[in-house]
Amino acid sequence: MKSPFKSVAIDAALRSGALIKKSVGKTKKISHKGRINLVTDVDKASERIIIKTILKAFPDHSILSEESRPTHGESGYKWIIDPIDGTTNFARQFPFFCNSIGLEKGGEIILGIVYDPMRDELFFAEKGKGAYLNNKRIRVSTVKQMTDAFLTTGFAYGRNRMRDNVDNFRNFLMRALAVRRPGSAALDFCYVACGRFDGFWELYLHPWDCAAGILIVKEAGGKVTRFDGTAYSHYDTEVLASNGLIHAKMAKVLSRQKKN
Ligand code: IPD
Ligand code: CA
Ligand code: CA
Repeated sequence: MKSPFKSVAIDAALRSGALIKKSVGKTKKISHKGRINLVTDVDKASERIIIKTILKAFPDHSILSEESRPTHGESGYKWIIDPIDGTTNFARQFPFFCNSIGLEKGGEIILGIVYDPMRDELFFAEKGKGAYLNNKRIRVSTVKQMTDAFLTTGFAYGRNRMRDNVDNFRNFLMRALAVRRPGSAALDFCYVACGRFDGFWELYLHPWDCAAGILIVKEAGGKVTRFDGTAYSHYDTEVLASNGLIHAKMAKVLSRQKKN
């Protein structure tokens, strides 16, 4: 049966993406949510477009979106939205950012969409139906060895967090083929899903960074867990996503992180 959600989610992602793309270099207002955590007028405008598109079609659905207060509908469906993932990149015209829209039902993500407007790349997955990039089926990589692994990570905005991820970054740098920090968690997941990266880990992400991406990785044949390999929820504070083949090896490296 055709899902009623797919066309609405794609419409929302493309409309918001068009606005984001045409606003590059034309941001009117950049504010600080924290010392190094930026938000622009375009994040807010993108959010308005996505929420309006979704609620027009599904007025009784709940919304959890980064830049506004959550709203609660009665339907049991919750849309989890990041209107721009990679805001710092966007604000500095570094072309690696996207929007991210996930749909949760019964605590589980059943649909995920991530759109990179600069490359016109639309990543999409529905539970049990595979993962796609611009309508072509995607799969995770077949890399098995840590020395061949091309990895990605990110760093939380809070600089006085208990775990800063710098030790993990160093530990992987010493073991992997290479490690990158591109600046958009949602795209990091999608790049694992399509085999550009072999693994991704990060601490202190929010549900809107992860909701869509985790489903896209899983539907592409990859694995998503907590650092120690145990079951992960998009409300958890640590995530490890990989092609599955290097998962245990990555979990072992992460087990070396400082515990204080
Ligand atoms: C951030 C990006 C970044 C990650 C941060 C996120 P934002 O999201 O995904 O790659 O390292 O932890 O908060 O603030 O650009 O939506
Ligand atoms: Ca984000
Ligand atoms: Ca954001």
